[in-house]
Amino acid sequence: MKHLLLICLAGLLTNGVRAEGQESALYKDAGQPVEKRVEDLLSKMTLDEKVFQLNQYTLGWNHNVNNIAEEVKKIPAEIGSLIYFESDPTLRNEVQRKAVEESRLGIPILFGYDVIHGFRTVYPISLAQACSWNPELVKQACAVAARESRLAGVDWTFSPMVDVARDGRWGRISEGYGEDPYTNAVFGVASIQGYQGDDLSNPNHIAACLKHFVGYGASEAGRDYVYTEISPQTLWDTYMLPYEEGIKAGAATVMSCFNDISGTPGTANRYILTDILKNRWQHDGFVVSDWGAIEQLRPQGVAADRKEAALKAFTAGVEMDMMNQCYDRHLAELVNEGKISTDQVDDAVRRVLRLKFRLGLFENPYTPVTTEQERFLLPASIQVAEKLAEESIVLLKNDNQVLPLSKTAKIAVIGPMAKEKDHLLGSWANHGKAEHVVSIYDGLEKTFRNQAQLIYAQGTGFEEADKSGFAEAKAAAEKADIILLCLGEKKGWSGENASRSTIALPPIQEELVRELSQTGKPIVLILSSGRPLELNRLEPLSAAILQIWQPGVAGGNPIAGILSGDINPSGKLSVTFPYSTGQIPIYYNHRQSARPNQGLYQDIPSTPLYEFAHGLSYTTFEYSDIKLSSTQIKSGGKVTAEVTVTNSGNMDGAETVHWFVSTPVSTISRPVKELKHFEKQFLKKGETYTYRFEIDPLKDLGFINGNGDRFLENGTYYIKVKDQQVAIKVD
Ligand code: BGC
Repeated sequence: MKHLLLICLAGLLTNGVRAEGQESALYKDAGQPVEKRVEDLLSKMTLDEKVFQLNQYTLGWNHNVNNIAEEVKKIPAEIGSLIYFESDPTLRNEVQRKAVEESRLGIPILFGYDVIHGFRTVYPISLAQACSWNPELVKQACAVAARESRLAGVDWTFSPMVDVARDGRWGRISEGYGEDPYTNAVFGVASIQGYQGDDLSNPNHIAACLKHFVGYGASEAGRDYVYTEISPQTLWDTYMLPYEEGIKAGAATVMSCFNDISGTPGTANRYILTDILKNRWQHDGFVVSDWGAIEQLRPQGVAADRKEAALKAFTAGVEMDMMNQCYDRHLAELVNEGKISTDQVDDAVRRVLRLKFRLGLFENPYTPVTTEQERFLLPASIQVAEKLAEESIVLLKNDNQVLPLSKTAKIAVIGPMAKEKDHLLGSWANHGKAEHVVSIYDGLEKTFRNQAQLIYAQGTGFEEADKSGFAEAKAAAEKADIILLCLGEKKGWSGENASRSTIALPPIQEELVRELSQTGKPIVLILSSGRPLELNRLEPLSAAILQIWQPGVAGGNPIAGILSGDINPSGKLSVTFPYSTGQIPIYYNHRQSARPNQGLYQDIPSTPLYEFAHGLSYTTFEYSDIKLSSTQIKSGGKVTAEVTVTNSGNMDGAETVHWFVSTPVSTISRPVKELKHFEKQFLKKGETYTYRFEIDPLKDLGFINGNGDRFLENGTYYIKVKDQQVAIKVD
């Protein structure tokens, strides 16, 4: 209530003194440089107007069940930003008109939304995208999302999430690019480029937001919103790289994290937000808090009340308050008490205004009103979504070339995922519609029409212990040559606030696999999930396993294409599949242990079921030995590593070469290997291609210490591809 009074009062004040002549003010002149316009506008603003710019409320229906919506009518014309939950721009334009025409200075509102893996044209979740090893395709998909968003009335997405994540129990593992820092960096950059393009004022692009700065993926025990224990060394060698690269790529904004980093919450972390982001990396955009995160400094135990929380977050470097009612209530008061300086407020407001000018909002505050057909699901957009789904699907197992199914006459299609549409969209796809999704069954019907008979039975639901459909499923299997068993997770089982104690499928789904295996018919498991799964009990019962993730609107076609052999699978894992949940955390780039062959689990294997970068093809690729242009290098020099790969099988296909680096001796114990470069190439059968890795010694062989300083030591390093390695000496 109190803050509403404040808002109304400030609204009256500012509206009441609507200045004459603003139309000709310098800040309204599009011909002036952005910085001049920002300074001019800033010089005209009252403290209350400045404070409003630093707040974000919501507008429209809030689909995020974790968050609570505000009502439209409460929105003051001077507000800095709104989260826009609608999919057409009418409401936006109405509220924008209020800001542009009724506020004293006519500052347009910045409309943000979580466009995480597509707007209406939903494409695969980020964890899957990384399995494509095709950043150019991810860039294209993000450009599709940007266009749809801007036409829907959204100028700013809270994406990409580049939190390195190594615990599949954490539901948000689906939102990032997996367990490797370099992979997160490359795909984060691709996605920023896709969203932002070269020019933010282009009406087909939107501003990006790198999140959640930093370390959210280390949430203890995979529980969301909790604490993280991150040493300075791990902070720099594991979590910072994707952010540093994202900032270099021009990410317009950054979102601070919910978690505390070894005792200091991200929201109040001056070292992270100011010393590093603003001073060291020179980021000139702004930091938005996560939803309600400033207020949450109280339960996190570092602020007694909202006012103290506002002071801590603001002085740490959070410029915009997302849904906390801390800044609008307390910032002005804190300035008047001398706890926050006007210079600090100006710096924060400057950052917000800068983005509004860069986005061209002063010139084009309104979104053109178009039809849904003009805005969404253009054929070219669906094509991108389909291609990305195709390249992100990973063939985990294929015994005796059971796939592709070219000669199969009768196919049993069983399982709760077979005809499912909605769950294939994944989490954070609120503008996606199930009616637009091509299900696995839809894809199969189209692909196998006139070629094979499909015999369908659902068999079971996702989790209820109900076996009443088992008999029908078994009967379908008995009639068929092969069983396509479509299992997996509901979309709400991953994403925010979706932690699970086990990454195994629910017992009823596993039981169905056991039951059907008794028929003796080969089982092809088709798995849709937002996380790596525990498959050790199912793997021995399956002839083939196809991991389809949550592929979005167009997944059914490429899934069927891969099963039929029209498409050769090319995805490789961006995350380790543990043997069992008990191995977590398990990831390829762990540090070296004192006794590598001891300290193993007594009751389960200590190696994962499927390693990072694992993924099968229908063709074979032959690798030459790795060749180096020199086996010795000086710190400023350059060396090229090459490996020649031939498609030696019977089908065209794409191969990704991953280049890893390791060193046995270093001042700081380093990971057993670190990914430094990758390249994907399509090779026709019989074709040969030479993959190259241009080694920059400091960047690729060097390491980073707990202060964030990169260093290179003399010694022996290994360049690794698959199971071979060559030595190179730095001296
Ligand atoms: C999530 C963010 C998201 C924000 C806005 C928060 O709960 O952690 O990732 O961008 O809500 O919806």
